[in-house]
Amino acid sequence: MATNKAGQTQPAKAEPRVTVPGIMAAKGTRKLTMLTAYDYCTAVWVDRAGVDMILVGDSLAMVMLGHEDTLSVTMEEMLHHTRAVARGAQRALVIGDMPFMSYQVSVAQAVENAGRFLKEGRAQAIKLEGGAAVLKQVEAIVGAGIPVQGHLGLTPQSIAMLGGFKVQGKDEEAARKLVDDAVALAQAGCFSLVLEAVPAAVAQRITEAVPIPTIGIGAGAACDGQVLVVHDLVGLFDRFVPRFVKQYDHLGQRLLDAVRRYREEVEAGVFPGPEHTFGTPRG
Ligand code: KIV
Repeated sequence: MATNKAGQTQPAKAEPRVTVPGIMAAKGTRKLTMLTAYDYCTAVWVDRAGVDMILVGDSLAMVMLGHEDTLSVTMEEMLHHTRAVARGAQRALVIGDMPFMSYQVSVAQAVENAGRFLKEGRAQAIKLEGGAAVLKQVEAIVGAGIPVQGHLGLTPQSIAMLGGFKVQGKDEEAARKLVDDAVALAQAGCFSLVLEAVPAAVAQRITEAVPIPTIGIGAGAACDGQVLVVHDLVGLFDRFVPRFVKQYDHLGQRLLDAVRRYREEVEAGVFPGPEHTFGTPRG
């Protein structure tokens, strides 16, 4: 990544795109990074920071659209945001998150909608939630040439079944089911696997059991990589802050301060100053 004299990060010059085989080859050699982004500008900055994968997560339902959970976001909304991110990300692998009810109804529906993420959204891969219940979908989507990232543990699209945003795999039976599901997803062709809100020891067992990279969120440090929602990482979303989030900044507060200063300067007649004002041509 290039840096100018002022220490500002500049656009990388023609760095090669991160690929699915590159992600798979990273297992056991280096830690992978993934972050969400939902719009062009954020994608540009996240991409410049050098993360491996950008997830256009269905979490956009909550952090961009203000819904209570992730269930209401539609295919059209997901594609709209995926297109914007794809225009901003030059290097990172862009992954489109399949929304609730876009792949559960039938295998044919799943393949068709996964294809739309690549064809219309210009993503390079898709993510979907679930274990044994979605194996047929995973096989068919991979069979159509579309890379699939799995997602186990706390799967927010199943919130009604799970009874809330709760840590999963806490007893031995549930932990063993997670390991079995992870192995089955890898065998079905997933290139990587998100593990959300599972005990660190269970995530470690899964990581050791599968040949594909595990990407943890609230799943401890033994995972092959980590993912966070970008709004959580920079402190923009404050409706709730999960325990597994580390806030690297407080951009919400900084935005508030900047907008307040703007309002005060306009009200006091300080902004716009002469330097922001066009003069009339001299006659
Ligand atoms: O939608 C999302 O942001 C996700 C991540 C939390 C992995 O699925």
